[in-house]
Amino acid sequence: MIVCQVSDMHLMAGGKLAYGVVDTAAHFRRCIANIQALPQPPDVVVMTGDLVDGGQPTQYALLREIIAPLSMPVYLIPGNHDDREALRAAFPDHAYLNQFPPFIQYAIEEHDVRIVAIDTVIPGQAGGELCAQRLEWLALTLATAPQRPTLLLMHHPPFATGIGFMDEIGLANPEALAQVVAKHAQIERILCGHLHRPIQARFAGTLACTAPSTAHQITLDLARAAPETFTMEPPAYFVHAWNAQSGVVTHTAYVGDFPGPYSFGMG
Ligand SMILES: [Fe+2]
Ligand SMILES: [Fe+2]
Repeated sequence: MIVCQVSDMHLMAGGKLAYGVVDTAAHFRRCIANIQALPQPPDVVVMTGDLVDGGQPTQYALLREIIAPLSMPVYLIPGNHDDREALRAAFPDHAYLNQFPPFIQYAIEEHDVRIVAIDTVIPGQAGGELCAQRLEWLALTLATAPQRPTLLLMHHPPFATGIGFMDEIGLANPEALAQVVAKHAQIERILCGHLHRPIQARFAGTLACTAPSTAHQITLDLARAAPETFTMEPPAYFVHAWNAQSGVVTHTAYVGDFPGPYSFGMG
């Protein structure tokens, strides 16, 4: 089973540029075309938040339009730039969005790998948290299928990345999540967004990672007072390939026009 993870598209409608610089819609269109051209098409695509830049209906309409060519199931979670109700309104056919209102938390059972998503959003704030209600749902949900390999989706990563200004708007209570996760060895990966970079860390006995953005990337600077900047490093997404022998193996796929492929047999 192959799961593509795309993240932090920050879509703007009407040709507007994010931060006056980034044509996020054009970047996302190229990402979707890249996924469609993969030699092994994914079985599902997950999108780990900051789907649009301002939570607006026109932006979600654009998201719908751009992902329309994908023939496999797509699963969405909100980030701090999203609006739960506007997201639900734009995707009435995505019934899983309504499993646990007002939050967007769900479990998807019909694939080889179980997909469980939790909602870290605090409306109106950049940082995230998991309240007792959301954590209780997660504990109960994980307990129903302890033998099934599981991917856990959440927007805010549960670990400090070292990028100071992003850690300040991170997840408020990772310790509470760790208590739940540590009891469930079936969690193959925790798949996050928010950081606009590929980053990995151990977390409560599993591996947590943040995905690159399909558009702009957060500058790699581990100084505590690092400037709040982004760069146009190559956009990318993750390809999580699962089989029963290896578990989940994660690849980074770059979106762009690069020279090659060349044969090793030449010259
Ligand atoms: Fe983002
Ligand atoms: Fe975010």
